[in-house]
Amino acid sequence: MPPSMRALVAGEVGEPGDVLRLESRPVPTPEAGQALIRVRATPIHASDLHVLRGRYGFSPEFPVVGGHMECVGRVEALGPDTEGPAVGERVVVAAVPAVPGPPVAGTWQEYLVADTRRLLAVPDGLSDSSACQLAVNPLTALLLVTRELDVQPGEWLLQTAAGSTVGRLVIQLSRHLGIRTINVVRRRDAVEEIKALGGDEVICTEDEDLVRRVAEIAGPAGVRKAVDCVAGPVGAQVSQALAPGGEVVVYGALSTHRQTDPAALTIPLAARSVIYETKAVRGFWLNRWFGTAAPEEALRALSQVRDLVAEGVLSIPQGRPFPLDRFAEAVAVAEAPARGTKPLFVLDGD
Ligand SMILES: NC(=O)c1ccc[n+]([C@@H]2O[C@H](COP(=O)([O-])OP(=O)(O)OC[C@H]3O[C@@H](n4cnc5c(N)ncnc54)[C@H](OP(=O)(O)O)[C@@H]3O)[C@@H](O)[C@H]2O)c1
Repeated sequence: MPPSMRALVAGEVGEPGDVLRLESRPVPTPEAGQALIRVRATPIHASDLHVLRGRYGFSPEFPVVGGHMECVGRVEALGPDTEGPAVGERVVVAAVPAVPGPPVAGTWQEYLVADTRRLLAVPDGLSDSSACQLAVNPLTALLLVTRELDVQPGEWLLQTAAGSTVGRLVIQLSRHLGIRTINVVRRRDAVEEIKALGGDEVICTEDEDLVRRVAEIAGPAGVRKAVDCVAGPVGAQVSQALAPGGEVVVYGALSTHRQTDPAALTIPLAARSVIYETKAVRGFWLNRWFGTAAPEEALRALSQVRDLVAEGVLSIPQGRPFPLDRFAEAVAVAEAPARGTKPLFVLDGD
């Protein structure tokens, strides 16, 4: 094993492209209960960039190695007296129940140590590109549809940013469960792709009125259930499109990510509609869910996701590979409009 490795480190809170540097660091040594993982692939999620900007739901101490959500790698060594997957086994490192704190410390590096309770075996045949995205987005899609909103077969589900990874997984899962989706995208170019994926209806905010189109599709009362990861004016329109007594679960705020004006960080709700039509707008955060769900429920949901992926019901979009040293380009691509597939750092792939 080499004594040193490369790690992508942010020295301080700031714009990822400005604060990230490639550094040489010693390869860490696993302690009891830990495994040393040689990272093969790790995504650049919006939330990873949000952490570096100091605007996520938790703040690590800086300097910090980037990448806080998930990765796939091989077990290189186990700590003393540690039971765990065999050396050489391919595993996902991700948030799992019963391990407090931020999901994963620093996946944007060649080696990391992780609590063995955070390791999940990778289903056979799953590419590194999909495996490194196995936990966060598929689990979020599953929980939003089946637990948070308990959407029933035949019901409408309205969702924003339908072309996102979560959005695509929501469409696939909904088809599997017989749920009908109304999918909001911001570009006309994306409409056909979403329909081809199985989205029942698509609304394009580039040239269509979200509230009016929802009423045309679901009936004048609106929809009873929605998920939103855009927030801002689009999130507000989703709440307007809800039927009386309807519910929207907000799980992201993509429209606010590069904004600094406090007015741009809100969802401007119509008070009358929320009060007199008793609509609910509430949040969902996977980290908090892990902190509050019973461990057996969390394990059940994780294994359900693994099964759905292994059976091909959920297909995780392949990412676009970048070597670590092209990090500036990779983080710029991550937030570029119409960028297509998600950028991943591939360090030791197939
Ligand atoms: N709360 C949780 O626990 C949780 C868990 C997982 C994910 N999330 C959140 O879910 C969201 C989606 O994540 P992901 O990894 O699935 O995304 P992704 O694969 O990186 O895709 C991003 C998508 O968002 C669209 N988009 C970006 N900015 C937008 C805006 N201002 N208005 C409308 N659409 C916009 C892009 O559309 P174009 O193609 O037009 O560029 C693209 O389709 C993120 O906010 C993420 O943080 C939250």
